[in-house]
Amino acid sequence: MAAHPGSNGSKAKAAKLRVFRGTAAGGDFQNYEVETYPGMVVLDAIHDIQAKQSPDLAVRWNCKAGRCGSCSAEVNGKPRLMCMTRMSAYPEGEPITVTPMRAFPIIKDLVTDVSWNFEMAKKIPPFKPRPRDADGNWRMQQIDIDRIQEFRKCIECFLCQNVCHVVRDHQKKEVFSGPRFLIHLATLDMHPLDTLDRREMVKRDFGVGFCNITKCCTEVCPEHITITDNGIIPLKERIADDHYDPVRWLLRKVAGKPRAHKVPAQPTEAGKTADISGRHRVDGGNGKGELER
Ligand code: SF4
Ligand code: SF4
Ligand code: FES
Repeated sequence: MAAHPGSNGSKAKAAKLRVFRGTAAGGDFQNYEVETYPGMVVLDAIHDIQAKQSPDLAVRWNCKAGRCGSCSAEVNGKPRLMCMTRMSAYPEGEPITVTPMRAFPIIKDLVTDVSWNFEMAKKIPPFKPRPRDADGNWRMQQIDIDRIQEFRKCIECFLCQNVCHVVRDHQKKEVFSGPRFLIHLATLDMHPLDTLDRREMVKRDFGVGFCNITKCCTEVCPEHITITDNGIIPLKERIADDHYDPVRWLLRKVAGKPRAHKVPAQPTEAGKTADISGRHRVDGGNGKGELER
């Protein structure tokens, strides 16, 4: 077998792949053999198959750097970004199975129809900041920025959606948004400048109650976002507080006031503020926690 360029003249090893080929109407696995080289990832192997054996093999990808979230699939039954999954992670000589994400309808081969996710995203009312302060700035506390920063790493690979049993096995797509959008809702709900109270809709329209905290979503997130503990559980708690705290309930009834919004004020580190994108700057602010909540 020919040596792969860049492999220092060593003999290339062959890897076996079983790749799903088909459409929504049906399909089957096709066996392939590809030459491997150091650093090769599963997406490289798929591209090699496309180039040399099956030019009609359908695969979605874009960045090949774990940034675009396009190449999501299941490798040996586990949700993975193919471009970030080394061939060397699998035992030599054993076939590597590559299948499309199971939670979404197949379009062709490894490409699934993920448009349901985009429809779900469109349903979420966007960020609605309060007016700027008198000096034209927005001020936020560092603790509030830190709380939501990890959620912003999401690359929308939808691997968390793919493993969530509520979406995948129970097909609750009509009434449950899935973890990716629950963390998006958590980002908005925890944002100190946002003025919209989405808690009722998180329960009613996005089905947070269906999540039973299995944490499967957190386990597969390639960005290591602590989806359940840091996003969904606090979201559930805020809704539970609002609905089931008898004091708040009574106050609402008596005063006829809308639900309180956002978390209580925390002390601000003097002199530090941040702009709306979460970037920090020091401007000599008074640090008195003047945020509206
Ligand atoms: S923790 Fe909730 S959202 Fe995440 S996979 Fe489990 S049921 Fe789905
Ligand atoms: S939360 Fe993680 S697993 Fe889910 S879509 Fe975003 S990056 Fe992917
Ligand atoms: S190709 Fe962009 S994440 Fe894999």
